[in-house]
Amino acid sequence: MKKISKIALSMAALSLIVVGCATTGSSVSDESLSLRKAPVHKENVIKLQKVTYTKAAPGQAKLIPRSYNNAPPLIPHSVEGLVPITKNNNTCLGCHMPEVAKSMQATPIPPTHFMNFRPKPVILPDGKLVKQGKVVAKVNGGANEVFATPTHGKLYPGRFNCTQCHVPQANVKPLVKNTFTPGFKSKKEMHKSDLINTLNQGVNTD
Ligand code: HEC
Ligand code: HEC
Repeated sequence: MKKISKIALSMAALSLIVVGCATTGSSVSDESLSLRKAPVHKENVIKLQKVTYTKAAPGQAKLIPRSYNNAPPLIPHSVEGLVPITKNNNTCLGCHMPEVAKSMQATPIPPTHFMNFRPKPVILPDGKLVKQGKVVAKVNGGANEVFATPTHGKLYPGRFNCTQCHVPQANVKPLVKNTFTPGFKSKKEMHKSDLINTLNQGVNTD
């Protein structure tokens, strides 16, 4: 009991200090609360910054360096008329599937997109659970194996919706400067992913 009341007391003291700070300092107007510099209670009058995207057609765009090693590359070209991707219409494949990419001068879809990284669980008659696929890495002494099952040239369905991970770059000026530097091991990584060869890095593979 004594212990609890001590904690309660110190929490009360802490909240007094916090409230004290909030009321004694100079006041902050609601216009200056957010980066958009507009009143927070007037959502209906907010004029959003106009966002534009590149108009360069595929084949005319300049590749954008990767945000960090093995980050999904940003789409450097216009996606007008190419989105939305639907069940029956995925134009991205027509230029990026490995067998056509070279002739289209587009980056081929990498080998990681032709693999199922989820283990396929199979229940045996004795009730035992078997995970199918090749173990490519063992984490935590084998409890959380990473499985990879090749999909034999067929795009893994989890990769079908390209724009879930690859997005066009908007022409905007960031309000807050980004000080992150990716620190690539080599210049090559700025424009090429090597995830398929480095999947096991940093994990116990015996
Ligand atoms: C008409 C062919 C064509 C279509 C359709 C197309 N692309 Fe491209 N894509 C290219 C070419 C060519 C490049 C290389 C840059 C350039 O020259 O525009 C490229 C570059 C890219 C890159 C950058 C790759 C890198 O190495 O940095 C990504 C990501 C990409 N496209 C994604 C997509 C997605 C997603 C779609 C569907 C919404 C799509 N593309 C549709 C031809 C195409
Ligand atoms: C679940 C997220 C995800 C989806 C969906 C996805 N990608 Fe990727 N993509 C990535 C990541 C992450 C990388 C970088 C690491 C790697 O190679 O796997 C990548 C890399 C790439 C690259 C660069 C390859 C290289 O050699 O450097 C291309 C091109 C690409 N994806 C195209 C596509 C296209 C086209 C689709 C749709 C058919 C697609 N991706 C769907 C996440 C995704």
